[in-house]
Amino acid sequence: MPLVSMRQLLDEAAKGGYAVGAFNVNNMEQIQAIMEAARETRSPVIVQASRGARSYAQDRYLYHLMLAAAELYPEIPMVLHQDHGNSPETCKSAIDMGFTSVMMDGSLMPDGKTPSTFEHNVETTRKVVEMAHARGVTVEGELGTLGGIEDGHGAGVDALAHLTDPDQAAEFVKLTGVDALAIAIGTSHGAYKFKEKPTGATLRMDRLIEIHQKIPNTHLVMHGSSSVPKELQDIINAYGGKLRPTWGVPIEEIQLGIRNGVRKINVDTDNRLAITGAIRKVFVETPEKFDPRDYLKPAREAMKQVVMARMNAFGPAGHAADYQPIPLEEMTKRYAA
Ligand code: G3H
Ligand code: 13P
Ligand code: ZN
Repeated sequence: MPLVSMRQLLDEAAKGGYAVGAFNVNNMEQIQAIMEAARETRSPVIVQASRGARSYAQDRYLYHLMLAAAELYPEIPMVLHQDHGNSPETCKSAIDMGFTSVMMDGSLMPDGKTPSTFEHNVETTRKVVEMAHARGVTVEGELGTLGGIEDGHGAGVDALAHLTDPDQAAEFVKLTGVDALAIAIGTSHGAYKFKEKPTGATLRMDRLIEIHQKIPNTHLVMHGSSSVPKELQDIINAYGGKLRPTWGVPIEEIQLGIRNGVRKINVDTDNRLAITGAIRKVFVETPEKFDPRDYLKPAREAMKQVVMARMNAFGPAGHAADYQPIPLEEMTKRYAA
């Protein structure tokens, strides 16, 4: 199947009452892990590349790996999405490259750290919506800021400092015309989200529900949604790693979100943990090995298991065959109308 727009996946997910996992990639093994998981669970999927990923891998490599995936997995509807675009220029370069969806994260200034004003956010996001919709490409915006700075995204502040305001969210969607909205409800990027299992005071699902009630027809996006499972932390630490005790977003809270308008769920950290644990295990147990395939193969398998578990938990499993790909040209006409 050709790469499709994210709008099509999210609309279909809304009809089916599920959410599509959006998994970050930087290399071939991560793309292979996701595609194998999608085939085994028969799931649609969003593959996303951050700015860091695009510069690490050289985005042309990533794009062509995705074309290979489309050829090898014709039954899987998939999207290539720019994660956390920091400016209209970044989004334009992704669209020019063939990405079928972009995130314009105007909640922060182009440095990816400083919280911006509502006006700045509306202005930059609207610009990207005009440019992207003219080419049938989907746009995700963000209002409110996540916590954490360890991966270069987020405002570097307490995750509860800039929660999304439900009234502003409604205004933002009206003023920008975004297809999907990422909201801040207390999550942050990376492994260190919560110091203990989150409660209603630290993970504000009540806020998510309030936002959904204000904008029931807007697809909501949860960032920073790795669950940081203890089993994955334990494997890393058992083989010489040094992770401090930490908690992520429980799967049941994500499922509550899905019942309240969440249609895209971003997961990167859990896959990083799975990969790192598997590689550490090989290094410690068989230190004589030096063929990269000896550790990249178990790493890829470990990531596939995490992705499959998320596909089963978020509900897209079994839905790959529901899709008739809508060409981007047709999406352009629909936006114009
Ligand atoms: O947005 C956060 C993702 O985990 C990507 O992180 O910027 O280190 O590639 P990155
Ligand atoms: P995690 O760090 O929780 O995996 O979040 C990833 C993310 O939000 C990418 O945009
Ligand atoms: Zn994110």
